[in-house]
Amino acid sequence: MSREKLLEVKDLTVAFGKRKNRFVAVKGVNFNIYKGETFGLVGESGSGKTTIGRAIMRINETDDGEILFNGQKINGKISKKLDKEVIKNIQMIFQDPMASLNERAKVDYIVSEGLYNTKMYDNEADRKRKVEKALLSVGLLPEFASRFPHEFSGGQRQRIGIARTLVMKPELIIADEPISALDVSIRAQVINLMNDLKQTLGLTYLFIAHDLSVVRFITDRVAVIHKGRIVELAETEELYQNPVHPYTKGLLSAIPMPDPKTEKHRKIEKYDKNIHKYDDNPPKWMEIRPEHWVLANEEEYEIYKRELEES
Ligand SMILES: Nc1ncnc2c1ncn2[C@@H]1O[C@H](COP(=O)(O)OP(=O)(O)OP(=O)(O)O)[C@@H](O)[C@H]1O
Ligand SMILES: [Mg+2]
Repeated sequence: MSREKLLEVKDLTVAFGKRKNRFVAVKGVNFNIYKGETFGLVGESGSGKTTIGRAIMRINETDDGEILFNGQKINGKISKKLDKEVIKNIQMIFQDPMASLNERAKVDYIVSEGLYNTKMYDNEADRKRKVEKALLSVGLLPEFASRFPHEFSGGQRQRIGIARTLVMKPELIIADEPISALDVSIRAQVINLMNDLKQTLGLTYLFIAHDLSVVRFITDRVAVIHKGRIVELAETEELYQNPVHPYTKGLLSAIPMPDPKTEKHRKIEKYDKNIHKYDDNPPKWMEIRPEHWVLANEEEYEIYKRELEES
C-alpha cells in the first residue's frame, strides 16, 4: 500500500447550536487516510461519525482544525474551483437506500445529479454513456435508467446509490453505514462489490460503521470514536488483537444485548465516569506502538503500556 496521504484530518472540532445550546459533537479528532486504503470509523449511535463525514464533504461547518485533501485545505472558506474539485472527488454513500434516493426521479436523473450540478459532461450522449457505465459497474442493467427507485430491492437501490457516486469518478468515497439497513443476506454482495470497485477503480474508502464485526474484514485501519473523540486508532488486526483503550475493549467484547452484570459492560461504564475527571488531567493523542494511537493522559498511558507488554 502506498503511504501517500489522500485525506488529513487535524484537530477537527465540530459544534452545533449557539451559546447555551452549543453542543460539541466532534472534539479534536485526528486521522489520515492513505491512498488506496479502506479506513474504518467505528462508534455507537451519536458518537459523531456522520458529523465527521459531513464535515469532510463540506456540509457541516467546522469550528476548529483542518481538513486537507491531496494536501489542500478544504474546510472553511475555499475557492469555487477547489469546491468543485471536492464535490467531484469526495462522494458519499448513505445508510438507508430507501430514504436517500429521490422517489420522484428516474434512476437516470438520480445517477446524473452530480454531473448536472458540476456540468461535468460534454453533451447529452456523453452523459447517457457515463450513466450507463456507472450502472454497469455496479451490476445493474443500463435500461434500469428509465425506472423509478421504488421498482428496486434494497440491495439494488444501494447499488444505485453507489453508481451515483461512481459517475463522478471520485477519489474518496465516504460510505456511511452502507449495509446496516440492508437484508443480512445481501450485505456480503454489497461489501464484495465495494471491494471489487476499490481494486478496479483505485478508490479509497472511509467506511463508517457502528459495530466492529464487519469492519474487520474490509478495513486496513480502524479508528474508534466515543462521544466525539477518537479514543484509539491502529491497523485493523493490531486493534482487534491488542486493543488498549477500555472503550475499544468493551466494543470488541460487546454482545447485542449486554448484560449489565457482566464485567465487560462495567468496564465501559467505568470509563464513562472517569472521562469527567479528565478536566484536571486532560488526555493527549499518544502513539503507544508504531502506528497504534490511543487517547490517554500520562497515568493511563503507563497502565495501557504495561497491559500491552504483559499481553
Ligand atoms: N445538524 C445537527 N444539529 C444539532 N445536532 C446535531 C446535528 N447533527 C448531528 N447532531 C448531534 O451530533 C451528535 C453526533 O451525531 P452523528 O449523526 O454524527 O452521530 P453518528 O455517530 O453518525 O450516529 P449514528 O450511528 O446514529 O448515525 C449527536 O448527538 C447528534 O444529535
Ligand atoms: Mg450516522
